[in-house]
Amino acid sequence: MKKLFALMVMLMTVAGVKAQMVLSDNHAMLKLEQGKKYLLLPVQEKEENASIAVLDERNEMVMRLNVKLAVDKVDYFVPLELKQARLLDIIFHGDRRTTGAIKDFACWREMKYSNSFDTTNRERFRPVYHHTPLYGWMNDPNGLFYKDGVWHLFYQWNPYGSQWENMTWGHSTSTDLVNWTAQPTALQSDWLGAVFSGSAIVDKNNTAGFGKDAVIAMYTSAGASQTQSIAYSTDGGRTFTKYAGNPVITFNAPDFRDPKVFWYEPRQCWMVILAVGQEVHFYSSKNLKEWKFESAFGRQYGNHEGVWECPDLVQLGEKWVLILNINPGGPFGGSATQYFVGQFDGHKFTCEDEPGETKWMDYGKDHYATVTFHNGPEGRIVALPWMSNWQYGGAVPTLQFRSANGLPRDLGLTTVNGESILTNTPSKELLALRSKKVKTPTDACEIVIDVKGTMELTLMNSKGERVVMNYDSKKQTFSMDRTKSGEVSFSEAFPCVTEAPTFGPMKQLRLFIDHSSIEAFEGEGRMVMTNLVFPSEPYNIIKVKGGKATIYSLALKK
Ligand code: FRU
Repeated sequence: MKKLFALMVMLMTVAGVKAQMVLSDNHAMLKLEQGKKYLLLPVQEKEENASIAVLDERNEMVMRLNVKLAVDKVDYFVPLELKQARLLDIIFHGDRRTTGAIKDFACWREMKYSNSFDTTNRERFRPVYHHTPLYGWMNDPNGLFYKDGVWHLFYQWNPYGSQWENMTWGHSTSTDLVNWTAQPTALQSDWLGAVFSGSAIVDKNNTAGFGKDAVIAMYTSAGASQTQSIAYSTDGGRTFTKYAGNPVITFNAPDFRDPKVFWYEPRQCWMVILAVGQEVHFYSSKNLKEWKFESAFGRQYGNHEGVWECPDLVQLGEKWVLILNINPGGPFGGSATQYFVGQFDGHKFTCEDEPGETKWMDYGKDHYATVTFHNGPEGRIVALPWMSNWQYGGAVPTLQFRSANGLPRDLGLTTVNGESILTNTPSKELLALRSKKVKTPTDACEIVIDVKGTMELTLMNSKGERVVMNYDSKKQTFSMDRTKSGEVSFSEAFPCVTEAPTFGPMKQLRLFIDHSSIEAFEGEGRMVMTNLVFPSEPYNIIKVKGGKATIYSLALKK
């Protein structure tokens, strides 16, 4: 009876689509039924994107998107919210010699209308206590801020597929940095371009004139050029209105993006740091709308083997730390995050490190686009990475979603042999996840190891898939070998051994395992290593030589 009822509901809510008009070899239109919430578009990942223009009843374009519409097989569906949409104008780009005629494509048979879209998790590699999008592709964290007890996390999101495309800002919120609730899309592309990475601040003194405590986002409009735009929210970050005077900063450079805004108290002004090719630029402003160029930093400093992206500047005690993501050029190939320590006087950053020196924030392969939350409570500076690598982010073995954020980390500075070292400590909210001590590792657990000198630690499953970690107390180095960790063949760049200096003796190691990731934190945060792993079953065996492990299973308490 129950099943029959479910079937009837399904037939009532999901209806097939028959109104397509094939007009040429590569062009079709589709008249949309009215009154339905979504059109579920069938996606086949290996196919080329089709360009879809969504038209309203006056044939005005309300949206443009690129979707890999299914040719002969459906990998998954994505929901297109219909609102005022009346007609889809679709251009296919694939090669007709290999795909056949577009009239025979599977997408026409498989598309359906629906009033709901099922986002229940279907993936065994989806983490439980890390943030992930409900579906679709995610890269950089954007617009991180804290206000009235809520952490806001926006992110580079493709709502129409699990590959990079159609960049918008997705949005999630949390009161504890581990339980995340998905919110409606915050920013959609417009004629200035796709919405690339950026930041958000709380305008406590109404400097911009959008209202006291307005949340103001600044992001890159990626069109024919990359320019900077702002949008404001007067409902605490739920919905945004784009500013009519956009773009607010322009510059003649092909790579000019990822604005991170911060308040500089001594000058009582806003500053923004932007990535420009292989440098960063600083601008200042009193009202977030008119900006003045201040200075550039970067020539000869740090690593220059890739494009500089997603910069951030934070004050830690008496010093300032410039966080800078680079791709490629990472210590183990592909994406990584470097940092510089120095002083900032409200006009320019002066680095205290030697020009040729590179400092890495995380020594794993899956730590990128890391930036910090604005306005953190108790003066906390909390950083959040994207937990993947541009070398293989689009090839990891998940489909419903790609990928996750790394764990939130509280930043600090310490001195080792006279040198300033950034510390990354798992945010204290993670301690509340510990449920009970267990004897063997699980797919969501924390392992705390008291290290007694040189140590070898192996995590394994019954298939013999394993991750081997070594700490050499003489050399003071830590390494993680994922070459035999499970599924590794989806990219040549994936199997690898990552190695890091521990900047002093390691007495404690904290390992966080969450289905498809291992994050290793030296007890005092001087070394951190974030790596993805895809074991065919959870690692449930641990062997430790030279240390004693305590294992906590971790669970969300909703
Ligand atoms: C970094 C990045 C940014 C850009 C965004 C686009 O991963 O390339 O520089 O704004 O991704 O999605």
